[in-house]
Amino acid sequence: MILQECREEDLALLELHNPSPGQTRYHEARLKRQQQGLSTFLIAWIDDVPVGSGEVRWHGCAAAEVHERYPDCPELNGLSVWPPQRQSHGIGTAIIQTAETLAAERGYYHIGLGVDDQNPRAAALYLRLGYKETGCRYLDRYHYIDDHGTRHDIADPCRFLIKPLRTRQADD
Ligand SMILES: CC(C)(COP(=O)(O)OP(=O)(O)OC[C@H]1O[C@@H](n2cnc3c(N)ncnc32)[C@H](O)[C@@H]1OP(=O)(O)O)[C@@H](O)C(=O)NCCC(=O)NCCS
Repeated sequence: MILQECREEDLALLELHNPSPGQTRYHEARLKRQQQGLSTFLIAWIDDVPVGSGEVRWHGCAAAEVHERYPDCPELNGLSVWPPQRQSHGIGTAIIQTAETLAAERGYYHIGLGVDDQNPRAAALYLRLGYKETGCRYLDRYHYIDDHGTRHDIADPCRFLIKPLRTRQADD
């Protein structure tokens, strides 16, 4: 498996193997944020096929409830591994660990992520990897545009988990 930052030429394969709903273009939006320096959009590849992704948002979680409490904590957003047969083979863990390394290299002391109340298996994975409950609950708001051009706004109840990172000493 190869893990690398998304490139412009990856978008078509990402949409093919993990299609955005309707007229939405989630991968393109994530790449745009990376190009603006707001995030690092990691893609996992096996045999030249994209099988997973996750976006490290350097300015943290967009939800005000989280941002006010953790203004200096980057967020791993949109972690996903596809198709389902590829899950539970360590790809998600590899993306998480790479995100943690990148955050530590930038000097951050923590990294965080949100987990949906309906996703106890993902929560179990994050807790196993050292993420801690913060008690910080919020609505993860996003939208998609369906095939007819109608916008649908979603608000999923989530909780924010954080993991302390070992950062390098200044004189390392
Ligand atoms: C959650 C997810 C990113 C984890 O990636 P992964 O490559 O499957 O994870 P790993 O193989 O490194 O670790 C597997 C563990 O993840 C957890 N897990 C969470 N959701 C899971 C799912 N839908 N399917 C399989 N495992 C899942 C389990 O604890 C699992 O442990 P197990 O294999 O002993 O059952 C991936 O399963 C996925 O894309 N799920 C659907 C989308 C999703 O839930 N995204 C997370 C949003 S917070």
